[in-house]
Amino acid sequence: MTDTDATLSDALGRISTAPDVDTLRSIEREFVGKDGVVASMLAAIPTLPPADRKGAGQSANQLKQAVLTALAEREVALGNAALDAERKGDGFDASLPPPRLERGTLHPVVQVTRELEDLFTSMGYMVLDGPEVELDEYNFEKLNIPADHPARDTQDTFYCNAPGSKATLLLRTHTSPVQVRAMEHLQPPFRAVVPGKVFRQETTDASHEHTFHQMEGIVIDRNVSVGHLIGAMKTLLRGIFKKDIEVRLRPGYFPFVEPGFELDARCPFCEKGCSVCKQSTWIELLPCGLVHPNVLKAGGLDPEEWGGFAFGLGLSRLVMLRYGIDDVRHLLGGDLRFLEQF
Ligand code: PHE
Repeated sequence: MTDTDATLSDALGRISTAPDVDTLRSIEREFVGKDGVVASMLAAIPTLPPADRKGAGQSANQLKQAVLTALAEREVALGNAALDAERKGDGFDASLPPPRLERGTLHPVVQVTRELEDLFTSMGYMVLDGPEVELDEYNFEKLNIPADHPARDTQDTFYCNAPGSKATLLLRTHTSPVQVRAMEHLQPPFRAVVPGKVFRQETTDASHEHTFHQMEGIVIDRNVSVGHLIGAMKTLLRGIFKKDIEVRLRPGYFPFVEPGFELDARCPFCEKGCSVCKQSTWIELLPCGLVHPNVLKAGGLDPEEWGGFAFGLGLSRLVMLRYGIDDVRHLLGGDLRFLEQF
């Protein structure tokens, strides 16, 4: 073994066991530094016999290259080992669950709507949709509410007068226009519910909101009676409140039904009176009635052959009852502190 070979194997041995980068740096200085082994080998060349000089220069350069390569490889290996150690140690643990992500929830109105859709579809109803920007014709005229009818005053309307349009457009004040749209499109007999937003130009307070939700129900068949209506409403209430609910009918006036009723339900939350039923043990819940012959005609049906009943479930009100919400304005207020509770 030549001197150079011995120097090289000494250098490589120490590099391969160097514990850290500082040690590598000092080995680097020792061998390839300004005053290092390689430098002194090169400095000694002029003192050699001319025939040996070329070989000595080559050996010195080979030593330098071999040491530099070994140093670089060891430095990379030390870096990887440090990363591995960090991953195994307290710096990083791949088995830990990730940080909790913020997650949204379904709006309470959506939750109750979906629940009711399931209930109604299980009873053979279709779920229909209709336009929120509606024609006066469907919101009023075809529902037996002509232009000068006083019933229009009970539903304060947002009109949207589209420039150049001959038809009067408005934000629907109830989901009832879909009754007629359904009759026009479907072959009776049929049953359908129509959940959706409705709009009224009202001063808002704890129980009034300009935008709220209803769910219309419409059943068209032969020989439909008030008995069918009451039966259906009781099934509905049992589905909603998960128990039998006593109901009572009071006459109610809506031009598109005849006879029309206000259906009250025995308060599901108390026996002797509470804040929900305002101590009366009854809650006003469901306007309903048999479809008026004029509405059947407007929908293209023959009132001699077809009849039906309709109801207008106040979805927003139902959600408030269900969760004990005392101000309707919370529902569309967009306050996350409210919504996060559902
Ligand atoms: N559309 C009526 C309202 O919003 C409610 C209703 C629907 C009444 C169906 C009778 C039958 O006030």
